[in-house]
Amino acid sequence: MFAPTALAILAFFGGVGFSKVYEDIANLPSLKYDFVIVGGGTAGNVIASRLTENPHVSVLVLEAGPTNQGVLDAQVPFLSNGVSDTGSPYSWNYTTIPQAGADNHSFAALRGYILGGCSSHNGFAYTRGAAADFDRYAQMTGDEGWSWNKIFPYFLKNERWSAPADNHNTQGQFNPAIHGTKGPISVSLLGYPWPEFAQHVIQTTKELPDDFPFNLDMNSGKPLGIGWLQFTIGHGERSSSATGYLTPGVIQRPNLDVLLHAQASKLVNPTQSKVSPNEPVTFQGVQFRYGTSLFVAKASKEIILSAGTIGTPQILLNSGIGDRTALQALGIPTVLNLPSVGKNMSEHPYSGVSWAVNSNQTFESITQNATRYNEAFAEWNRSHTGPFVDAGGPGTHAGWLRLKADSPLFKIHPDPSPGPSAPHFEMLFQVRWIVRKHYLRHFISLVAAMVSPVSRGSVTLSSSDPFAAPVIDLGLLSNEFDALALAEGLKLALKFTSAPNWKGYLGAPTVDLAAMSPAELTAYVRANSGPGYHIVGTAGMSPRGARYGVVDPDLKVKGIAGLRVIDASVVPIVPGAHTQAVTYVVAERGADLVKQAWN
Ligand SMILES: Cc1cc2nc3c(=O)[nH]c(=O)nc-3n(C[C@H](O)[C@H](O)[C@H](O)COP(=O)(O)OP(=O)(O)OC[C@H]3O[C@@H](n4cnc5c(N)ncnc54)[C@H](O)[C@@H]3O)c2cc1C
Ligand SMILES: *[C@@H]1O[C@H](CO)[C@@H](O)[C@H](O)[C@H]1NC(C)=O
Ligand SMILES: *[C@@H]1O[C@H](CO)[C@@H](O)[C@H](O)[C@H]1NC(C)=O
Ligand SMILES: *[C@@H]1O[C@H](CO)[C@@H](O)[C@H](O)[C@H]1NC(C)=O
Ligand SMILES: *[C@@H]1O[C@H](CO)[C@@H](O)[C@H](O)[C@H]1NC(C)=O
Ligand SMILES: *[C@@H]1O[C@H](CO)[C@@H](O)[C@H](O)[C@H]1NC(C)=O
Ligand SMILES: *[C@@H]1O[C@H](CO)[C@@H](O)[C@H](O)[C@H]1NC(C)=O
Repeated sequence: MFAPTALAILAFFGGVGFSKVYEDIANLPSLKYDFVIVGGGTAGNVIASRLTENPHVSVLVLEAGPTNQGVLDAQVPFLSNGVSDTGSPYSWNYTTIPQAGADNHSFAALRGYILGGCSSHNGFAYTRGAAADFDRYAQMTGDEGWSWNKIFPYFLKNERWSAPADNHNTQGQFNPAIHGTKGPISVSLLGYPWPEFAQHVIQTTKELPDDFPFNLDMNSGKPLGIGWLQFTIGHGERSSSATGYLTPGVIQRPNLDVLLHAQASKLVNPTQSKVSPNEPVTFQGVQFRYGTSLFVAKASKEIILSAGTIGTPQILLNSGIGDRTALQALGIPTVLNLPSVGKNMSEHPYSGVSWAVNSNQTFESITQNATRYNEAFAEWNRSHTGPFVDAGGPGTHAGWLRLKADSPLFKIHPDPSPGPSAPHFEMLFQVRWIVRKHYLRHFISLVAAMVSPVSRGSVTLSSSDPFAAPVIDLGLLSNEFDALALAEGLKLALKFTSAPNWKGYLGAPTVDLAAMSPAELTAYVRANSGPGYHIVGTAGMSPRGARYGVVDPDLKVKGIAGLRVIDASVVPIVPGAHTQAVTYVVAERGADLVKQAWN
């Protein structure tokens, strides 16, 4: 009785023919769907999963990259650089143009080229931002639906709070009242907490509470202070939009198809739409490349662009939606003059400083010792415990801090933060040297970011070839205010380590910032900063009827029927936070907006 059933189930899940994530276009049953989603990334998979909850709606996802399945570096938290770094098979390999504000350095502009997009390769930090960030989005778009109170239920819907991999007592490290427990994305505290270092960080909040108060949970909407970081990790493994939203149960839905290795080039066959005078144009399909051939996928209801903050504006521009003069210069016929496409990019500049420490409890004890490294890997492999359960990147704690209210910098530029309970700075506390290089001594680092930047960048086309890499200008530190402010952020790092408890533990810093003049410190910032990979705003929301912006508050592209953008591109200004949580809630609300439009 039981044996045949078990066999049938095995065959069902194991059978290649039943997998609906298609490697080969020859197996794709159709090129006509209700919805075509371009990009199976952080946002795209959320929308695919939510829309296909309705069995009467058919969805195709076109993803340029390969599957996340079986990619160990995308699964083991400590190894994520192996999937994120330029030159990996899972990277778009983009480089920025020289950044004049950052000593003309060009930076790798990392973007995930893999199912799950950046959620399959990011640094895991789970930070929602300040309530004031979202209330500013509501004000900037004229839509209360983007306010903190209205968005908050979407944070809970997205999240599954999980025990840390070491099952330690987490009391006093977070506030359970503000977390979701049933959502697709696992969130947890450190599973290998580096107690010696953590004790110094927490002790400093007691010794210098005026400048660095302890904050039980930075995800409450009031992030200011120092607290334990939370991560999109569950049971020692990465939780991404691919693992969380495209579960086997979702993938088996007969109304959902995902095609890999399919890179969209542009929207095709613009025709006159009959929807409303405000939306005069509509597109009949999405052109994409699979192998060396071009295909067109058709959407009878909507095309949804979720190709991320580089891919989405590039596809819009390739399709003739953008600044008419710039399109003309490349010989691309303008379908709709929408000058904001690719503009108003907003990104966080990061800098930092390291100290040698009188201890061997640092990442170097693992990364610089092959025996220990192999032991740690084997432990993860055996039981999903040990140091490999945590990210190699962001650190143990984060602090969200402000310039003093009477800072002379506000004479140079008015306060760019969304309000007095939102940060100007992030500080990350890391048990390792800031630069990943071979070094046998032990270090800790304090990383400072300017998280309410004034500078803006852009994505523009380099050629009329839709597959050519676009021109990426982060505008990093292009506004003087950001560089001067980031220098103040580094001073806060020095102040943090002046607390008495660090004596005897901290050795010399790798660079003596305390001895620098203000001009030297600003020069140091310009020479030693890099991007946070938190780009937003390249297809930004603005109020309905505004003469700038790319999408309306319901995420529909202005002037076009049947086309939405749902990904980090629509966020009009970067929040004081790492950007996956905001992307997840934009996608969750975006899916609801689509459902409401077609119910
Ligand atoms: C290295 C790195 C580390 C980060 N660390 C953190 C962190 O610790 N915490 C945090 O909160 N945030 C972090 N972020 C930022 C965060 O991950 C992103 O803001 C967010 O995931 C963006 O989601 P998205 O849906 O807009 O785009 P993506 O997730 O990039 O999705 C876009 C998808 O579209 C696909 N695509 C693009 N162009 C095309 C095309 N033409 N045709 C078909 N498919 C296409 C891509 O391959 C990708 O799968 C990090 C980002 C990076 C790059
Ligand atoms: C990035 O470079 C690596 C190494 O050459 C390659 O495997 C990968 O396919 C490249 N990514 C893209 C999107 O071309
Ligand atoms: C950056 O490059 C520009 C153009 O080549 C040059 O004018 C400028 O002096 C350079 N700046 C620095 C700091 O090197
Ligand atoms: C950028 O956004 C601001 C609103 O924040 C708007 O005033 C401006 O016109 C936008 N610029 C472009 C080029 O879209
Ligand atoms: C760390 O230092 C202690 C005491 O000096 C020593 O016993 C231990 O072997 C060291 N561990 C590592 C991993 O270097
Ligand atoms: C390297 O790691 C091994 C195993 O943990 C440990 O015994 C050894 O002391 C370490 N070596 C150094 C130089 O710390
Ligand atoms: C992980 O475990 C498998 C067997 O379960 C083994 O084949 C593999 O070598 C292990 N890898 C590591 C890094 O320990």
